[in-house]
Amino acid sequence: MTPEPDAPDDPDDGAADLTRLVLTLIGSRHSVAPKRLLAPGPDATQLLQLVDAAACAPDHRGLRPWRLVRIADHQRDALADLFEACTRERMADDDPPAGADDIARSRDKAYRAPTLLLAVLKAEPADPEVPLIERAVTLGAALMNLLLAAHGLGFAAMLTSGRAVRSARFAQAMGLATGEQAVCFVSIGTAAVGQRRGRGSAADYLGDWCPGAAGPAR
Ligand SMILES: Cc1cc2nc3c(=O)[nH]c(=O)nc-3n(C[C@H](O)[C@H](O)[C@H](O)COP(=O)(O)O)c2cc1C
Repeated sequence: MTPEPDAPDDPDDGAADLTRLVLTLIGSRHSVAPKRLLAPGPDATQLLQLVDAAACAPDHRGLRPWRLVRIADHQRDALADLFEACTRERMADDDPPAGADDIARSRDKAYRAPTLLLAVLKAEPADPEVPLIERAVTLGAALMNLLLAAHGLGFAAMLTSGRAVRSARFAQAMGLATGEQAVCFVSIGTAAVGQRRGRGSAADYLGDWCPGAAGPAR
């Protein structure tokens, strides 16, 4: 029997379009290093759209276990000073200690990308049902949503961390509360060029449960 042709307003067409759109968006996103992220970054309205997208992440018991700290343009010198202080502290016992090149490199990172956010993970208030790993998953999902939304709006972005971000000095300067942990920067801007890196295939990640056996080989 010949199948009926699809009606023009077949709702399945819309679903197929959406699937294609979502998979294309996800499959075409790639990170672009902060030093290659140029102006313009998202405007105030677009930035809120990105954060709204981040807020759609799965969140066990609705704890909202993350926040984003925006580093304004006029705060870049202060951030450079902070990076310099963290580098000097970290390398104080090195032989030789931090030199002019180390300092210049660390300061330079404060001036990259038109939009710079710090992602913070919140462990408090404690909830016995939601361990830190689950909160971190929520933050990761939120950041992924944000990266995808940025990509959808035509921007490029990248997550970066580094030893300074994990230091006590940094946490104190950023005003992090007890139970808060700086995780990474989110740099957003416009990319002149970008290269998508190779990805693993689904088979690298997906396996069946075989009791006692190791997961898929890498
Ligand atoms: C929390 C976090 C921190 C990261 N920090 C760095 C970093 O400091 N330097 C770096 O080169 N990549 C870092 N990455 C990896 C990049 O953000 C990026 O995911 C990686 O280069 C792969 O590129 P892709 O997003 O195009 O797949 C980090 C990733 C995550 C999730």
